[in-house]
Order: sequence, then C-alpha cells, then structure tokens
Amino acid sequence: MSERIAVYPGSFDPVTYGHLDILQRGLSVFDQIIIAVLNNSSKNPLFTVEERVDLLKKATAHLDSVTVDSFEGLLVDYVQKKKVGIVLRGLRAISDFEYELQIAAINKSLNPKIETCFMMTSNHYSFLSSSMVKEAAMYGGSVHELVPEPVEKALVHKFGKRSSV
Ligand code: PNS
Repeated sequence: MSERIAVYPGSFDPVTYGHLDILQRGLSVFDQIIIAVLNNSSKNPLFTVEERVDLLKKATAHLDSVTVDSFEGLLVDYVQKKKVGIVLRGLRAISDFEYELQIAAINKSLNPKIETCFMMTSNHYSFLSSSMVKEAAMYGGSVHELVPEPVEKALVHKFGKRSSV
C-alpha cells in the first residue's frame, strides 16, 4: 500500500504548541507529513523563513515522519511538485472556518486533485495563535506554556531578556 503523505503549510511565525498538536493529530492519519513554511516576506514576519524552518526542525526533531521545508508561490504548485494530494490545516474555532474555507476553495479551483483535510485543535490551544504569542513576548509576558523551548529562547532573543529563560 502506498504511503499517505500530507503537506502541512503555514506561516509558522513562530511555531506554537497549537501547530504541534495538529501535527500529532495528523500523524495518527498520515504516514509522513511535510511541513511547508511560506516564504512570505511581504507579510513582514518576525522570523525569517530560515529561522522559522530552523525552529520547526528543532521542535519536531523527535518525529521521524516529519520533514520541514519552505515554499514560495502557490501552495498547490508546491504540493503537486512534491507529488502529494493532501493539504493538512488546523481549525481552532468557528472564527477560523471562513478563512480556511476560502483557502480550501481557492486551492480546489486552482487544482481540483488536491484535497484539504482539517483537524480540530485541542480545546487547550483553541485561543493560541502565533500573533498572540508574539504580542505577549513583545510586552515581556511568559510564553513558556505556549511554545517549545527553542521558540521561547528565540523570542527572548528578539525582544529582550526574561529572567526565567
Ligand atoms: O499560517 P497561515 O498564514 O494561515 O498560512 C496561510 C497559507 C500559507 C496556507 C496560505 O497563505 C498559502 O497557501 N499561501 C501561498 C499562496 C497561495 O497558494 N495562495 C492561494 C491560496 S490562499
């Protein structure tokens, strides 16, 4: 039987425990997951694409079935180039639904062969977003419970020192 592979795309600026929760859930369904970080300098990300890839590699080092890559341009083109048929996305709340529906619909019209698979984030992380993490860290709040340690350290490095890290 052929391997079930999915591409898990996103900005991951930076990766949070919410993303890792979706990844773990994805691994219960897919044999391999390729995390694809969007190279989106126009969105003015806090972390460069190289930094985001590096943080994701550190955060997923214990997961053999996960690889981390970056892409530019259309997601469907990247997914096709990788010879994968499934895009994995996470849903935290109803508020995510409209945005995700739009992305999935556009991707479907661009390439009807590619399906989007949604997984629900654990309730524990339903409030969690990279933007919230960045804002909390920027004002000196602890993000220890929200992101893996390398990300916490990288945020401290960007925004200044906290005594706990
Ligand atoms: O983590 P994000 O920012 O919500 O991820 C959005 C992402 C990367 C999935 C989406 O912006 C994307 O796929 N961008 C690549 C360009 C593209 O394919 N656009 C058409 C569908 S929106």
